[in-house]
Amino acid sequence: MSDKTSNQMWGGRFAAGPDAIMEAINASIGFDKRLAAQDIAGSRAHAAMLAATGIVDTSDAEAIREGLLTVLSEIKAGDFEFSTALEDIHMNVEARLKEIIGEPAGRLHTARSRNDQVATDFRLWVRDQCDAAEGGILALMKALLGQAEAGADWVMPGFTHLQTAQPVTWGHHMMAYVEMFSRDLSRMRDARKRMNESPLGAAALAGTGFPIDRQMTAEALGFDRPMANSLDAVSDRDFALEFLSVASICAMHLSRFAEELVIWSSAQFRFVTLSDRFSTGSSIMPQKKNPDAAELIRAKIGRIFGANVALLMVMKGLPLAYSKDMQEDKEQVFDAADNLMLALAAMEGMVKDMTANVANLETAAASGFSTATDLADWLVRETGLPFRDAHHVTGALVAMAEKKGCDLSDLSLEEMKSVNGTITEGIFDVLGVHNSVASRMSYGGTAPARVREQVARWKEILG
Ligand code: ARG
Repeated sequence: MSDKTSNQMWGGRFAAGPDAIMEAINASIGFDKRLAAQDIAGSRAHAAMLAATGIVDTSDAEAIREGLLTVLSEIKAGDFEFSTALEDIHMNVEARLKEIIGEPAGRLHTARSRNDQVATDFRLWVRDQCDAAEGGILALMKALLGQAEAGADWVMPGFTHLQTAQPVTWGHHMMAYVEMFSRDLSRMRDARKRMNESPLGAAALAGTGFPIDRQMTAEALGFDRPMANSLDAVSDRDFALEFLSVASICAMHLSRFAEELVIWSSAQFRFVTLSDRFSTGSSIMPQKKNPDAAELIRAKIGRIFGANVALLMVMKGLPLAYSKDMQEDKEQVFDAADNLMLALAAMEGMVKDMTANVANLETAAASGFSTATDLADWLVRETGLPFRDAHHVTGALVAMAEKKGCDLSDLSLEEMKSVNGTITEGIFDVLGVHNSVASRMSYGGTAPARVREQVARWKEILG
């Protein structure tokens, strides 16, 4: 059809076609072609239902369903010419269907509107992304679990304020992320469950007078049930927002870990060596090995947060039911989903490949008076000092060591006794980092034995 004439889908009352600028602002085909498979699945389910309910002849419905498969294979093969004049994926598919099967194509849109059509397509697409994200998160959790198992008793500094706080185990640090990502996984599954209702059959906004069977289309598309209110069905995008919110929280976790990898791989820290496969070089400084994947994860995460806010902004002022503003839902979600999957995969790759520099970790763990709390705890346990007083005595010992430029364990017993006379030789046992972590056996603590329990628990869960 010519771009100059009025639209063949809705142009009945129009004498002229749209201005080029109108067409440019109106068309969504440039991006919503990504919904082609979902659109065709929805249309095939709708056509089968139209036949089953006697709304359309079985032979016409069959022609439609067959023709739609041809359209799908053309699109998949890259043999399909998308037209901006046809606005969006829905009309592009229907117009091509008409070219292929002729007159029966015109019956497909009975008892349906693009409003419930797009809501259905988009739900199906976002649902697929929940599944993809689930796979990505699970793979990352397994990679973290591998690291945790290998290094359940490797000692590293634990930080608060990025200042050395207390020694922890490498395994414990990795398992902290396993816990975080497991909550992302659970949120993703939860979002999927909530979004899994079918808008199809809500029609434009009010339902339809045709005797449709919404249960049938819902089932055919793998939805748990049809949505109960037609206005709600065509006008909310909370399912996409929920995906973006869950994705944002997961992305935030990815970004924090990425930041740690950037710090850990620096020449100053040397806690980890990232593999060549997940690093890049500098074109001018031959010595450099840059953690670009981690940096890009950290940066890309901003796009996901941005998408979340952008869609909230699109939606917040819209009266019920559908408004064309809602066409702006897709690009944001597409971009966020693409970048979430990429970030998850890149993080999984980095984690799988990275090597912890165990000796460096241990040296760092032992510096910065990291066992000062162990010393204070020893005073409480062995001499009966109240913790506050023990804290004070330990502070004085730290000051002494700092002045001498040595570690706590390098102070002599006499020096210790000069601060508190009740201190005995036994104190040196708790100043070692391995003893320190091994003693932290409280549930959820960093002791290697506790970490191994958690690793075993998660291995059982993840299979
Ligand atoms: N391309 C549109 C969108 O993405 C499809 C729905 C159009 N509906 C309408 N009443 N104009 O939202």
